[in-house]
Amino acid sequence: MTLIEVDDISKAFSSRHGPITIMSDVSFSVADNDFLAIVGPSGCGKSTLLRLIQGLDKPTSGEIRFRGHPVTGPNREMAMVFQNFALFPWLSVKENVALGLEARGWEPDRIDAQVERYVTVTGLVGFEEAYPRELSGGMRQRVGLARALAIEPAVLLMDEPFSALDPLTAESLREEVLQLWRDPNLPPEAVVLVTHNIEEALSMADRVLVLSRRPGRVLAGVLVNLPRPRDRKSEAFFALTDYVYSLITEGTAAPPSTGSGLGSPAPSEPGSPLLSEGASPGSGGGPR
Ligand SMILES: Nc1ncnc2c1ncn2[C@@H]1O[C@H](COP(=O)(O)OP(=O)(O)OP(=O)(O)O)[C@@H](O)[C@H]1O
Ligand SMILES: [Mg+2]
Repeated sequence: MTLIEVDDISKAFSSRHGPITIMSDVSFSVADNDFLAIVGPSGCGKSTLLRLIQGLDKPTSGEIRFRGHPVTGPNREMAMVFQNFALFPWLSVKENVALGLEARGWEPDRIDAQVERYVTVTGLVGFEEAYPRELSGGMRQRVGLARALAIEPAVLLMDEPFSALDPLTAESLREEVLQLWRDPNLPPEAVVLVTHNIEEALSMADRVLVLSRRPGRVLAGVLVNLPRPRDRKSEAFFALTDYVYSLITEGTAAPPSTGSGLGSPAPSEPGSPLLSEGASPGSGGGPR
């Protein structure tokens, strides 16, 4: 089932020199079970795009739909995980995780049970009473993740969630996010991950949306048709990394040839209106 449809949107901000278009002609869709990564140069509008999807801001033209309905305001079925964790320093771990539930008017007992569940799921047991300053970066991001998951969002939006972490911590947290994602008893239904890290995108996502320099346009939607866990040392992985890197740096690239070892990538047509779901194994709707 299609969850999100981004339909030919553009976004402009006003500046002293008049309006500046930061993205245009952006179209794609996200289905349940989809793990979509968005990569593109700095300033091409990736964070803005997440805000538009969440309904925190409006596109200048075009439309975003969620479950078939136009997005007109903040969407409570979505939660965001931020690069800088965005925790409240004066609140304990438990209180930070409870924030979204309090905002929803839940009863205290129900909040406690939910917080306990997601503190456990994210490996924070024993740290419930700690304050963010007492935690490592990795643990802080676990709190960010627990807070987002606690509201049981249909869509988890992640804006460079691993880029402030040291490489080893980032790697283990990526693996844990994938494990959570694979667990059918846990939210979310779909993940949209914004990242600068091409390897991260290709090792986690089913599809990678590659955006151009500002104004951001869709250069390609790359289906990552490689078996999981992804082998970053495989020829096919290298070929895809190279392809996405060339797209970002040069704006154009020839897709890797099919049949290169472990499964073949099937890039979509550049500029295709809505990336199709189910067009290939490993795209939306397939097994996690
Ligand atoms: N509220 C705003 N008002 C004016 N300009 C804005 C606003 N938000 C973002 N911009 C501008 O829009 C452009 C895109 O910003 P955005 O943060 O979405 O890019 P990004 O792709 O996430 O970049 P990065 O990779 O560096 O995080 C930037 O030039 C930014 O300065
Ligand atoms: Mg950003």
